Amino acid sequence: MNITNILFSGRIVKELERLLNSEEILKERDLRFIAEEDVSLEDLHWADAYVAFHPVANFHFENLRWVHSLGAGVDRYMALAGKWPEDVLLTRTITSFGQKIGEYTLSYMLKELQHHDRFRDQQGRGEWKMVAPRALNEMEVVVFGTGEIGQELARILRFFGVQVVGVSRSGADKDHFCRVMSMEEVSLAKADFIINTLPLTKETERLFDERFFGRMNQAVFINVGRGGTVDHDALLGGLDSDALRAAVLDVFEEEPLPAGSPLWSHPGVTITPHISAITTPEEAVVCFLETLEAVESGGELRNWVDVGRGY
Ligand code: GLV
Repeated sequence: MNITNILFSGRIVKELERLLNSEEILKERDLRFIAEEDVSLEDLHWADAYVAFHPVANFHFENLRWVHSLGAGVDRYMALAGKWPEDVLLTRTITSFGQKIGEYTLSYMLKELQHHDRFRDQQGRGEWKMVAPRALNEMEVVVFGTGEIGQELARILRFFGVQVVGVSRSGADKDHFCRVMSMEEVSLAKADFIINTLPLTKETERLFDERFFGRMNQAVFINVGRGGTVDHDALLGGLDSDALRAAVLDVFEEEPLPAGSPLWSHPGVTITPHISAITTPEEAVVCFLETLEAVESGGELRNWVDVGRGY
């Protein structure tokens, strides 16, 4: 496929413009770098390719032949799935997300196991009281999602001796997990931490519901996938019973999380503003250029998205 007119938009569009303008492979092409609110129908009509985190409000396929998501998640593109023309290719960014999510989750796991909050409180009182840290290699972690990100997360946790159980639709074995189970098979009763990396699709919407939290036994639930996979009333119910010890949430159905949400003030909830796997402009450029080359040469696309499946 030949791509000539490429439209870039979104949060990092200025940085992309700076980084891409000197790229040899792009010299022969026409590039437009346009802030989201300024993308016009003429721009969309002009473009062969659209590169952004999500579709702009007035998005229209027009002559597009390729859409590339600057993020790992494509759920906002999937809102167009019913109208998605068969011949328009969708790809997503694959970069160091697994490493970043590994660091994010490890930081919250270690904060608890090393009693950071307790020792800070004790210090405030001038109190010397030994409490033994708990070791990572005594922990069982269940990771929902065994794709790129889930596998890298498993690799990192396994390095520290964590027992890592993966959960996927098929339950098929994947590298780095001690074992992989299907959603129905997996036992959550022994899990110390449950980490969600799943994309938002029709099947994962509200997957973590009352029944699910009811199967957990004092686990910490960490969500780095998508907010729409969680029934937040059920999560709060799980925190108020014995099912959940705490929740660490980086993603929400509505972002920013609305001011009135009870999640903000619940003592068992830690909120971070969708920072567990940010795409840097440099990473976006590397993945975009590799993908462009593969799209044009007909090479293998490991970041191809199956629009029917939604990831
Ligand atoms: C972040 O959530 C992403 O989709 O990259």
